[in-house]
Parts: sequence; structure tokens; C-alpha cells
Amino acid sequence: MSNTALATAKENLNKLGYLDLEVDPTLDLVEEIEKLKKEKNAIILAHYYVDADIQDVADYVGDSLGLSQMAASTEADMIVFAGVHFMAETAKMLSPSKTVVLPDLKAGCSLADSCPAPLFKKFKDKYPDHKVVSYINCTADLKVLTDICCTSTNAVHIIESIPKDTGIIFAPDKNLGAWLKKKTGRDLVLWNGACMVHEIFSNEKITKLQVRHPEAKLIAHPECEAHILDKADFVGSTSGLLRFTQESEADTFIVATEAGILHQMELKSPHKTFIPAPPNNTCACNDCPHMKRNSMEKLYLSMKHELPEIHLDEEVIEKGRACIDKMLDISAKAGL
Ligand code: 13P
Ligand code: SF4
Repeated sequence: MSNTALATAKENLNKLGYLDLEVDPTLDLVEEIEKLKKEKNAIILAHYYVDADIQDVADYVGDSLGLSQMAASTEADMIVFAGVHFMAETAKMLSPSKTVVLPDLKAGCSLADSCPAPLFKKFKDKYPDHKVVSYINCTADLKVLTDICCTSTNAVHIIESIPKDTGIIFAPDKNLGAWLKKKTGRDLVLWNGACMVHEIFSNEKITKLQVRHPEAKLIAHPECEAHILDKADFVGSTSGLLRFTQESEADTFIVATEAGILHQMELKSPHKTFIPAPPNNTCACNDCPHMKRNSMEKLYLSMKHELPEIHLDEEVIEKGRACIDKMLDISAKAGL
């Protein structure tokens, strides 16, 4: 490839979010990516929601907590994050001396976008005595305003680690927040944010599926709305849902979360049946458009050229990291 093509692709990076270079269609991308891993001492961390081919080439596939733990402990020089922007930012905060690349900078998160830090600051100022617990699905600037971070795996432990007489603001997910209120009996002040993927499930279509498959267990992520969670047989984070499908005696599951997780469920329990919960629209899928911005071509290019790279101000890293460190500490003590 010519230097001019690379220079133009770099110029376009801000506009497009990724390097718009042509990839030779005859290249064996799995082989090339494996070579680049060794050459650059790179590790690929992938969330359960990315495409199956990316999960298969990753060194670690996991939920938001597992990915943060890996980002904090890896000895690789480069972290390649097959996920979304807040996850790569978190990895950079935890390993600031490492190169962290995200194959497409526009892989955002509707939940993180639903809570802009300047607006949240005004909201927080109304409750000066409250502690702020933020779901990790938020921007680095929001983490700076947060006392303790959480993920869906450890959220109950994090809330319960705060003394009962201390008020808590929970941001940004109102559905996870409402579920935590029920689970912990705490009176949380909720920010009104939500995830576009988990709010799309159709109660009516799920009921029809349950009638057709009376033996199936309905399992749901706590980012879903209360009317879905109330009828679920099991509620848990992506890793919790995966574990449940392995340990349960049932052999059919209706899965109310992003459909990427089905790949690991099918790999771990090949004899079981997994039905993605249908959304409330004419489209048959419940894909996260942000996670699905990752592709094998973008992954390969980002490793080869070490771009797009995540950069954060030192002050943001220092102030934002404290809430993630507290979360990791509480999780480790709880054996999570
Ligand atoms: P977990 O990885 O904590 O299950 O959260 C799912 C999610 O929405 C990530 O964006
Ligand atoms: Fe964000 Fe929802 Fe996509 Fe997760 S599934 S990255 S919460 S938009």
C-alpha cells in the first residue's frame, strides 16, 4: 500500500472513525491477525456482543467486568479492544502506558450517550450527600464524577458495599437501577438513561414464543425493561446468562440480550437450543449497531497500523480511574 493511501486514510480517520484502507480479499485475516499478535505483543479483548468470527480470533471473550480485569492485568504491549468506546477508554485508564486501539472509534454506546457529564454534574449537585455509583457503560468524563463504578455482574455487591444510611445516585441505566432497587431494597436516585438494544424487546412476541416453547427458560439482562425482567426465569449479566445456560437442566432458552452472546452459548452447550428474544419492530434482529461496527477487516487494520488509538488526558485517567479501582477491589474481595 502506498504512503499516500495511508496518509489519506489517516486524514479520514476522524470523519469515519476507522482506517478506510482496502484489504486484499484473498488475505487469510485470521492468520494475519495471529501474526500481528505475536509481532506486536498484542492481546485482543472481545465482548460477547461482537460478531462470532471476531470472538473466535480473540484472546479473551468476556463481559464488561472480565474485560476490565484483563485490561488491568495483561502484560501485552498493545490492547486491541473489540468492543465499544467506553470499554477501550476503561482499558486505557487501567493500563495507561499501553497502546489501546479500538477498530472503529464510532463504536459508541447509546447508554453512555444518554448521560452527558455536564448535565449529570447539575443533577448530582442536587444531592450533595449522595454517593454516585455509575454503570461502567459511561464516558470517562462521567467516571470522573463517580465514586464507585459497577458492571451488571457486581452491581448488587457494589450497592451493598455502601452504608445503608448513605444516599446513592445510580447512573446512567434506569432499568438496571430499578432492578437494583428491587434486589437490594435501597432507595436509589436514578438517572433516566437506557440502552437502545435492551429496550427494544417485544413483550407480546416473547409471550407468543413462550406459548410455542412452554419448556423454554426466558433469560434476560438487567438492562431490559421491568416488564421483561418480571417474567424472566433468570436475570443476569452476559457472563451470568452464559453460566446459567450451561448449568441449567433446561435445553431451550429465550435470550433477552444482544444476540452476539448466542455464539458462546452454542459453543458451550452445542446440544441446547437458543432463541433470540424478538424485538418490537419489523426487523428480526436485536443487534447492537455499535458493537457490530467491529469487523475482521477493521480489526486487522487497527492492529497493523496501531490506529485508531485511544488517548486520554492524564487528569481524566487519574480522577476517572479511582472509581474503577474501587470496583475491582470490591469484586476481588467478593470473589468475582
Ligand atoms: P455486561 O458485559 O456487564 O453483561 O453488559 C452488557 C452490555 O451491555 C455491554 O455493553
Ligand atoms: Fe451500549 Fe446497549 Fe450496545 Fe451495550 S448493547 S454497547 S449498553 S448500546
